[in-house]
Amino acid sequence: MCPRIKDKSVQAVLQAVDIVDVVSGYTSLRKRGATYTGLCPFHQEKTPSFTVSADKGLYYCFGCGEGGDAVRFLERMENLSFSEVIEQLAERYGVPLEYEEGKGADAAGRDREARILLLLEKAATFYERYLWETSNGKAAQEYLRKRGLKEEVCRAFRLGYAPDEWRGLQRRATKEGFSDRELEDAGLVVRQSGHVYDRFRGRLMFPLVDHRGRVVGFGGRTLKDENPKYLNSPEGPLYQKGHLLYGLYQARKAIADADEVIVVEGYTDVLALAQSGTPNVVASMGTALTEAQLALMTRFTKNITFMFDADRAGTDAALRSGDLARNQSLRPMVALLPKGMDPAEVAVAGGRSAVEQVLRDKRSLLRFELEHTLDHSELSTPEGRVQAFERVRQILDRVSSLKEREEEIPVVADRLRLAPESVALLLRGRPERRRPVSPVGINKPPVPARGESALSQRLLSQATAVERDFLVAAVCHPERAAVLLQTLTPEHFADPSNREVFLGVKEAFAVLKSGAKDARAEAMAQLRAQATGDSEAGRLFVRLVLEADRGRYRAAVLEELHLRVQEQYLNRAIRGLRRSLEQGDESVETQQRLFHLERLLQAVRSSLLQLDPEEGLAED
Ligand code: CTP
Ligand code: MN
Repeated sequence: MCPRIKDKSVQAVLQAVDIVDVVSGYTSLRKRGATYTGLCPFHQEKTPSFTVSADKGLYYCFGCGEGGDAVRFLERMENLSFSEVIEQLAERYGVPLEYEEGKGADAAGRDREARILLLLEKAATFYERYLWETSNGKAAQEYLRKRGLKEEVCRAFRLGYAPDEWRGLQRRATKEGFSDRELEDAGLVVRQSGHVYDRFRGRLMFPLVDHRGRVVGFGGRTLKDENPKYLNSPEGPLYQKGHLLYGLYQARKAIADADEVIVVEGYTDVLALAQSGTPNVVASMGTALTEAQLALMTRFTKNITFMFDADRAGTDAALRSGDLARNQSLRPMVALLPKGMDPAEVAVAGGRSAVEQVLRDKRSLLRFELEHTLDHSELSTPEGRVQAFERVRQILDRVSSLKEREEEIPVVADRLRLAPESVALLLRGRPERRRPVSPVGINKPPVPARGESALSQRLLSQATAVERDFLVAAVCHPERAAVLLQTLTPEHFADPSNREVFLGVKEAFAVLKSGAKDARAEAMAQLRAQATGDSEAGRLFVRLVLEADRGRYRAAVLEELHLRVQEQYLNRAIRGLRRSLEQGDESVETQQRLFHLERLLQAVRSSLLQLDPEEGLAED
């Protein structure tokens, strides 16, 4: 569908970008030696751990591990695709782009799309001017005034008014050289028996702006009591309802700053909240969120708060959205509005403090669902409680996090007067085969939650950290590392990304053994080539490239970490062999291997003991 940008154009753009310039738009950077540092725009922090290397064209956050090049930065920051970023950067740095000639993705198709976008943009301006600069616009202005929406916010969201004529827009667009066909493709006119007329007439116009800031459609509200209340652009290649969040373009910075997005239903809700001082708000436009919409938001924040009136039909949509969010390990919240009010009404009537009040009382969507269910159940009879228990269990079943389920138990237990055994049942969640159960005083004993023990989890992450430190120390002393790396195998690394990076570094550093003059530069260039930011391993490469300059670890540290990696590996291998012996493996090979590994472990340990403690790891 999207035309492919030619590789040489991509290269030209990559040559032209200045990563410091790009990143500076999002956080302020301070020069420190060869690199720049600042507060990480991807997570909340008080001391700067975000680093940008101008000459390497890379950024890395030592706090959250986010890293890559300028393109990756914008992909993450602005939630754009690779080619969208390239197009944006090309425009910014004045690099002309060439596209591959593919089927359906020809130059003509692109030109047509550009024409439609231009037409939509011009239409938005036309409607804006019609609202603010004509006498016919007065009625719409008056309508906005009555609803408490001031000119400033209406202008920020580019509201407009469509003439109440059959061909107001069409005549104007024709004068500017647009064909009826183009108007039709833009969804601005309707064709009937060969004639076209304006789709939007006498309506208040809300431009639908995509996350790149392009007008891709409109929502038009009637000023009367007419059906439909809202008329929206038809869906097409540019406007797809499920791929757009109303207000995201205007709100994106505020969402990142607040690390929270508030999701409302309507256009006017967005405007009223923004006006009253809550700008981190988007509208789902009246339906349940789609996966694509959720993805648009989660680039900016993981904290999603739905704002709705608990007693309205809209609740359903929010609940469905909530399930979707939870499936992605998000923890959606709800802020409940006073009965019968929508966000716009609260914001206009009560201003910022009323909105803040509503937000202060927010709770997890899970809690809301449970309370909603309990409120609508008959709890005075045992049968009613059994039914309610079943519904509660179904809700909790959809939540995979044990911790989250645990938090809700006291509320449920109290209202259902549950016995501890029944509570334990609620905690178990998602077992593969669940026999029908009855709550309250049931006789089966609870089964404890299964899963990795906390201890083994912790050991694993310690091992991973040691492996990482070793790789970092290796790039600080490439020549020595080239020798040490030869003694290790992928099995020495428990973590898959570490393993991948180990192999990459080992291969890159192989040239160092030749002792050639440019060997070091070549080795570093090989590392740089793998520093992509697209995967955990790629980001670790980014970190390594930047760490090479910092030279944080002294040579002695590299030696110690080399031993520690071996020690960890031997411990793991020995544990594995013991387990298989316990499980009845009686082969001589296994016993011999165990014996061998234990001797190696002893050797490693005695080497570790001989290290000069003064040269230890303690120092950074
Ligand atoms: N909507 C729509 N088409 C409709 C009705 C609603 O597209 N016929 C979408 C719009 O995006 C609207 C949202 O659903 O903003 C919420 O609908 P509703 O609550 O009915 O409208 P409000 O936005 O509250 O509009 P108003 O306050 O002007 O009545
Ligand atoms: Mn409303």
